[in-house]
Amino acid sequence: MKFVGKHILSVSEFDRAAIERVFAVADQMEPYAQRKKATRVLEGAILGSMFFEPSTRTRVSFGCAFNLLGGEVRETTELKATSIAKGESFYDTARVLSGYSDVIVMRHQIEGSVAEFSEASRVPVINGGDGANEHPSQALLDLYTIRKELAAKNKSIDGLSISLIGDLRFGRAVHSLCKLLSLFKHIQFNLISPPELSLPDEYIAAMRDAGHNVNQSTELQPNISSADILYVTRTQEERFPNQEEANKYKGLFRLNQAVYTQFCEPNTVIMHPLPRDSREAANELDNDLNENPNLAIFRQTDNGVTIRMALFALILDVVDQVDAHAKPVNWYTAKRF
Ligand code: NCD
Repeated sequence: MKFVGKHILSVSEFDRAAIERVFAVADQMEPYAQRKKATRVLEGAILGSMFFEPSTRTRVSFGCAFNLLGGEVRETTELKATSIAKGESFYDTARVLSGYSDVIVMRHQIEGSVAEFSEASRVPVINGGDGANEHPSQALLDLYTIRKELAAKNKSIDGLSISLIGDLRFGRAVHSLCKLLSLFKHIQFNLISPPELSLPDEYIAAMRDAGHNVNQSTELQPNISSADILYVTRTQEERFPNQEEANKYKGLFRLNQAVYTQFCEPNTVIMHPLPRDSREAANELDNDLNENPNLAIFRQTDNGVTIRMALFALILDVVDQVDAHAKPVNWYTAKRF
């Protein structure tokens, strides 16, 4: 896979060599993300950041990643603040905004919208999440986190057992992650969801075709005991026809320290793409796990910065120039990594 000047719309574009390339560049970015060094390699470059759906970590970490490479970020965060609300087409918006940016990251509630936008864009476009379809950069950072967590336990991704829990129907992070994991060998997928929110059939068929073992269940406890990774997700309430419909599925699976202690192997890694829904009616991942060293959720969010720096460095073809532009960090840096 070639990265220079390319869009990143789906993880289907990736093979294992491409994943390894992104991870190697992400490793190279770590001292910059951790403020041990600074670099201005993208000085003068502009990221067009267009998030037409709510976002905290994806939007901000893409922006920080670009800033950490020395570039500037122009943000548009609401549909109603754009001319799309006046009836402008994706085609026109893409033609215009790509004249202002070197690369664009876009999130939109319609499946396929980012791909449609990219066809008219004059610069590379990264999919920051298109409806219930895909979320490629999230899956890359999740896989990178899985790899690091397993390496600390002398395990590799091949042979992994992962339990994916919650809204697997609308969860785009899950969709992209299942596709990426399918590139590895002998994965045991335990899919835990209510029947109405099960992973779409085409994903399951592809996982089985690739030789993986897929087990579907509506129960949490018996299906988390042998997993290396628990990947918990939120009910994607914004994809339901109304709030009452979404509320039916909240609180069905709750992972807390008591459940973890009783049913999981010691050192089972806990992940979540975030945001977790901490409201009482949902609370799929309890705060009482916050001090559990196996809770990897904030390692995932930190890894999001290095993975996104890697994508920018690869797409804009500066990987080999990053270190040449390195400078010392002169400000106080808190010990947060
Ligand atoms: C996810 C998303 O937006 O798909 N969040 C994220 O980007 N980390 C998951 C979610 O919203 O539940």
